Amino acid sequence: MCGIMGFSGNLKNESSVGVVLNGLKSLEYRGYDSSGIAYYDNDDRLIKYIKKSGKLINLSNEFSCIAPLNSDVAIGHIRWATHGKPTDENAHPHIDCSGNIAIVHNGIIENYAALKNKLIKKGHRFTTETDSEVIAHLIEDYISAGKSFYEAVRLTSCELLGAFAVLALDAASRSIAAVKFGPPLVLAQKGDNLYVASDISPLIEYTNDVIFLKNSEIACFYDGKLDITTFKGKKVNKTITKIDWDASRAAKSGFSHFMQKEIFEQPARILDAFSSRVMFNEGTKDNVINLNKIKIKRAKKGFNENTQNSFNEAFAGLDISLEGLKLTKNDIVNSPKIVFIACGSSYYASLAIKYMMETICGLSVIVEYGSEFRYENFPISQNDIFVGISQSGETADTNSALEVAKAKRAKILSITNVPGSQITGLSNKGVIYTHAGPEVGVASTKAFTTQLLCGLLLALYVREKSGFMPGYQWLNPRNIFKNLVELPKKMEKILFMDETLKDIAKKYYKSSNFLYLGRGILYPIALEGALKLKEISYIHAEGYPAGEMKHGPIALVDENMPVLFLLSNNMLSTKTISNIEEVKARGGRVIAVADYEPEIDGLSDLIRIPETLEVLSPVLYTVPLQLFAYHIAALKGTDIDQPRNLAKSVTVE
Ligand code: AGP
Repeated sequence: MCGIMGFSGNLKNESSVGVVLNGLKSLEYRGYDSSGIAYYDNDDRLIKYIKKSGKLINLSNEFSCIAPLNSDVAIGHIRWATHGKPTDENAHPHIDCSGNIAIVHNGIIENYAALKNKLIKKGHRFTTETDSEVIAHLIEDYISAGKSFYEAVRLTSCELLGAFAVLALDAASRSIAAVKFGPPLVLAQKGDNLYVASDISPLIEYTNDVIFLKNSEIACFYDGKLDITTFKGKKVNKTITKIDWDASRAAKSGFSHFMQKEIFEQPARILDAFSSRVMFNEGTKDNVINLNKIKIKRAKKGFNENTQNSFNEAFAGLDISLEGLKLTKNDIVNSPKIVFIACGSSYYASLAIKYMMETICGLSVIVEYGSEFRYENFPISQNDIFVGISQSGETADTNSALEVAKAKRAKILSITNVPGSQITGLSNKGVIYTHAGPEVGVASTKAFTTQLLCGLLLALYVREKSGFMPGYQWLNPRNIFKNLVELPKKMEKILFMDETLKDIAKKYYKSSNFLYLGRGILYPIALEGALKLKEISYIHAEGYPAGEMKHGPIALVDENMPVLFLLSNNMLSTKTISNIEEVKARGGRVIAVADYEPEIDGLSDLIRIPETLEVLSPVLYTVPLQLFAYHIAALKGTDIDQPRNLAKSVTVE
């Protein structure tokens, strides 16, 4: 929820504060109600700090007013308040009574009240309402009892209950310590410089070689030397992970907002998600098409779609390789149920993936909110397969639900965007990375569409491994492959409609309510479209299955209620058209997103998108809804990348 960043080392042109401030900019999506930095001032030989409520810009302005700093160690924090209001005082860092220890913390200290009372009795003076401040005083307490800084941090870590990623700065030794128990912490060492952050985004500017701390580990950095131990004090040798993210992807690159850039990036990211993972391999080597860098082996002979056998044979030509996935044929065929766990947009992606799995594999799938699942009496067997979907891989609700399933020895796999995130450690059956690259806008866009794509790949993989037959012969693999390859270009076509969507947004941005309706696989996309609008424009929007409209929401329809329909040229289209007529009959304004030219009079607006297979259609229908929400929010002048009250990764329950 919060973001933390630390630096220790020596850079020619920048002080430690500059590095930390820069890092906090990349982490601002994690929280933005207050921020602060503590640094060791080399000239005055003491810890100094500034903390400010509000956006990070307030903190940068404060630092820009002071003379160039001579400092080589600093820790910083960007906050999303849990305990205590987002005031200057409650902002991190927190300082001990002596002024020699500063800490920043991400997470929640569950036993803070008991620790605080104990420390107050011992004479410690508290100045904030936060749970985090106890950490600084506890470290101080151990140091006063004669412990070294490292030992004090280690013993403190053992006393804390809850979830915590902590950076502590010690004036006496000029060292920093990083502690992980729950929320993520990533380190990168380059020469004598150490960078440490809540995630990899601030680090890739300096290096792609990172170290992920595990739970109950402490890293201590002093004088260019990094030591990592467990909470019990046992030395740990860590491996370096190479991250294939490109630093330029975390910049706006000429777009007005990160969200806009991330919407426009989607054709390339979709391609990244499937290009090296899918091959259609039925023909001979001489028939290779090179399209968008993807090599497609085109089948020489067609296959007969009318027989089950030919379907099976042809499916064999579709080769899905999902690196790192350890799901075996036995796991699949012995599994009584497949359960998807997710929150927010990732939950909506799971709902669409449920349709894909059921259509492609003929398997029934259950989708659960992480926040609900944990407290349900859901029967779990060790043969169940659980799939966690999370952009950040750090969502506490999702991860806690997966932990419940894991405790019952269920099989866990995940779809995530962030290498080394917490969900990857929970996934005993492997991880499918979405390869979307850093997503900075708080409202999920490219992460959502790449999740859909990875869900489709998972369905194809399960189909290939298990040999399950859904009986939908029209869904032939060559057709899936052909449509998959065409998807990025079709997305581009929708992005070219940006101006049209902006014009449509101009007609509606003053509306107070919206209904988004879709059927079948497009119902989850209606939910996602409504969520996008809510999140960034603060306009109330409801997503509903179109067929449910008559069971209640129709009461809301009048001339002030725009209703956005997702309409596809399939067997449900006539039913959806009837729903459109029902809205029109009540004076509602209808916007339709359709992959064909529907014969409907009196549509207020039609957004015509390219056609694709039904199982791929969610990816395309999502894009105009993102652009629509974006333009409405831009017209309303809201804070698109950092909408009020939200944080990108929700690491608290
Ligand atoms: C999406 O726009 C939201 N910001 C939010 O609903 C998000 O999808 C949810 O918090 C889950 O996040 P995750 O994918 O990182 O687990």
